[in-house]
Amino acid sequence: MNHRTDKVTVPDLKRFKVEASLITMLTAYDASFARLVDQAGCDCVLVGDSLGNVIQGHDSTLRVSVDDIAYHVEAVGRGLSRALLIADMPFLSYHDRTTTMAAAGTLMRAGAEMVKLEGAGPVIDRVAELVEHGIPVCAHLGLTPQHVHQLGGYRVQARDQRVAEALLADAERLQQAGAGLLVVECVPESVGAMLSSALEIPVIGIGAGAEVDGQVLVLYDVLGISIPPRPRFVADFLCGCDSVQEALSAYVDAVRERKFPGREHVYS
Ligand code: KIV
Repeated sequence: MNHRTDKVTVPDLKRFKVEASLITMLTAYDASFARLVDQAGCDCVLVGDSLGNVIQGHDSTLRVSVDDIAYHVEAVGRGLSRALLIADMPFLSYHDRTTTMAAAGTLMRAGAEMVKLEGAGPVIDRVAELVEHGIPVCAHLGLTPQHVHQLGGYRVQARDQRVAEALLADAERLQQAGAGLLVVECVPESVGAMLSSALEIPVIGIGAGAEVDGQVLVLYDVLGISIPPRPRFVADFLCGCDSVQEALSAYVDAVRERKFPGREHVYS
């Protein structure tokens, strides 16, 4: 059960890492589920552009707009009392300074407390500009679904040593630019562990193994209702539970106690 009760703020994230207190995150897209996720004790709730898949039924996140995310951020915000609310910046909403500021402004005004951007390269300057203007940023590396066509599909990233080293260099530059959190998706467990030990900011894994500072999953995967095929790194927590609330608490407890992810969810 959740024993943390104070509202989670951006500075708390680094403190959780210093205290070796694992961070729990789930996606949510509406007020009712947001309330249940919050009550289960999740530290962060992400309005992910995965809503393109699980809400809108597309086969990628590319069609999601800033207005789509803003609509769901407003709804989710009404359901939260403790968790930090993070909003995804959708595809092509952060390719230049003006577009980035406008999009992030819309999401913060809708109630987001942090925004998430995928990738590095030119994104590093965008991160620095957002942070300079008081907008907290979560970076996202590894498998970045907005680059699905460039990557040739949803595949494990950074299996090659040189690619893993480049990923670490990107992560360090994003931290230097002011990112306060890093989501790393679908990489070998050793890469997740390397990022977590090299960075001061918390590293939240999704298919990045157990040796990171916290975990995130898509809510509908946790409830076993997302459209198959489901990746190896997801688990159905509703299976064996009597209610959604019990399943969400089981997820939070399993992450905090480092029981999830298990060996069967990890890439090598
Ligand atoms: O869009 C999303 O839900 C995400 C998480 C899977 C990390 O980016």
